[in-house]
Amino acid sequence: MDGGTQRALLQRIEVHRQAGRGTDRSPMVVRNHIDAYRSPRHLEHERQSLFSDLPLVAALSPRLPTPGSWATVDLDGRPVVLTRDAGGEVRALLNVCRHRGAPVAQGDGCGHSLVCGYHGWSYHLDGTLAVRRRAPAFGDVDPAEAGLCELPAAEHAGVILVRPTPGPPLDAADWLGGVADELAPLGLDGYHLFGTRRFTRPLNWKLAVDTFTEAWHLGVLHQRTLDPLIFSDFALFDALGPHGRLVAARRSVAGLDEVPEADRSLLPHATILWFLVPNTVLIHQQDHVQLYQSWPGDSPDEAHLTVSVYVPAEPRTEREIRHWQRNFDLLVDVTDGEDFALAAAIQHGYHSGAQDFVRYGRNEPALAHYHQALRHLMGLPPLATEGDPPCTSATAPSSRT
Ligand code: FES
Ligand SMILES: [Fe+2]
Repeated sequence: MDGGTQRALLQRIEVHRQAGRGTDRSPMVVRNHIDAYRSPRHLEHERQSLFSDLPLVAALSPRLPTPGSWATVDLDGRPVVLTRDAGGEVRALLNVCRHRGAPVAQGDGCGHSLVCGYHGWSYHLDGTLAVRRRAPAFGDVDPAEAGLCELPAAEHAGVILVRPTPGPPLDAADWLGGVADELAPLGLDGYHLFGTRRFTRPLNWKLAVDTFTEAWHLGVLHQRTLDPLIFSDFALFDALGPHGRLVAARRSVAGLDEVPEADRSLLPHATILWFLVPNTVLIHQQDHVQLYQSWPGDSPDEAHLTVSVYVPAEPRTEREIRHWQRNFDLLVDVTDGEDFALAAAIQHGYHSGAQDFVRYGRNEPALAHYHQALRHLMGLPPLATEGDPPCTSATAPSSRT
C-alpha cells in the first residue's frame, strides 16, 4: 500500500473520529437466507462455481522460499504440490503419481525432483517424468500421460494462485486487481513463513470469513483481548472488484494528531484486511502478516480452517522465536477461542428454526459486499435489500452505529 493511499485512508478515519463514533456504511440493509449457510444443495453449487473454476489462493510466495522448494496443499479435496523450479517459476501439479496414484510429495521440502513414496517413480519439478523404475514392465507410455497433471498457476504480488481444474493460463494480475496494487509495496515475497495451524470446526466455511468483515464486535466479543488495542468504530471499507479491503484503526492512531500530515503512515496504526474471494483473508498487522483460509467440509456445517503467520525475516534467536510463537498462540486463542467458537454456536442456531434470514447492517458493508460477490460469481441474483431502516430511537443518527 503506497503512502498516498495510506494518507487518504487516515483522513477518512479522521472524519469518523471527529464525528466521535461511526464507521463506513452501505446504503442498504441486506438480507441473506440462512440456507446459504446450511443447505447441502447450496454448498454443492458453491463447490462447482467457487471452488472449481476460480483462481484460489494456494499460498503466499514465502511458502516456496528458494528454487527447488515444493509445498503440498489441498484445494477443496484436490491434492496439489506447488513447486518452484530452478528458474524461480511456480507451478501447481496434482499430487498424484501417474503409476497408481500415490502422492509424490508430503509436507513441504526442497530438492531436484519429487519421488513417489510407493514404488519410487520420480518427476522433475516441472512435472515431467524423470525416472520410471522397472520401466520395461510398463511398455511405451505417451509422454503427455507420463508427467504429473498440471493446473493453471501464477504468482503475483507475493500471492500464489491456482485454478483447481486444468485449463487456459491464469491471469493473476487481472484476478487480484487493486488488491495486488496494494500488496506489491509490502514485499511479501521477502517474508518468512513462521507457522501454520489447521482446525476442523462445526461451522459453515463462510462464517469464518464473516467474522473478519466488521470491527464493531470487538467491543463485545473481544472486550478483553482486542478492544484495548483496536477501535471498534472508525472502520473503513472499499470494494476492490469482487474482493475488498477493511481497515480497522488501532488506538495508537490518536497519537498521530501530533505528527505532521505528510509524515503520517497508516500501517503501524491499523489492522488491514484484504478479502480475496471466495475463502481467503489476508491481514497486515503492524509487523507481520496473517493468512486465514476457510474450506468447506463434508457438509455445510463443517469447515477446514488454516491460519498462517508470515514474518518479515526468519527468526534466528531463541528470543525471536519465542516472541513470534507468543504472538501466534495469542492470535489462535482469539480467532479460534473467540471468533470460531462463536461461529460454531451461530451455525447451531441456524438449525433451530428461529429465523429464515440474517441481516447485514448498514454498518457492515464488507459483509454485504462479500456475499453479493459470491452470489454474482455463482450466477445467482443479488441479495434483497431493505432500504433505509426507519429512524427510531434505536437507530437515530446519534445512536451507536
Ligand atoms: S504409485 Fe507411484 S510409483 Fe507406484
Ligand atoms: Fe473477531
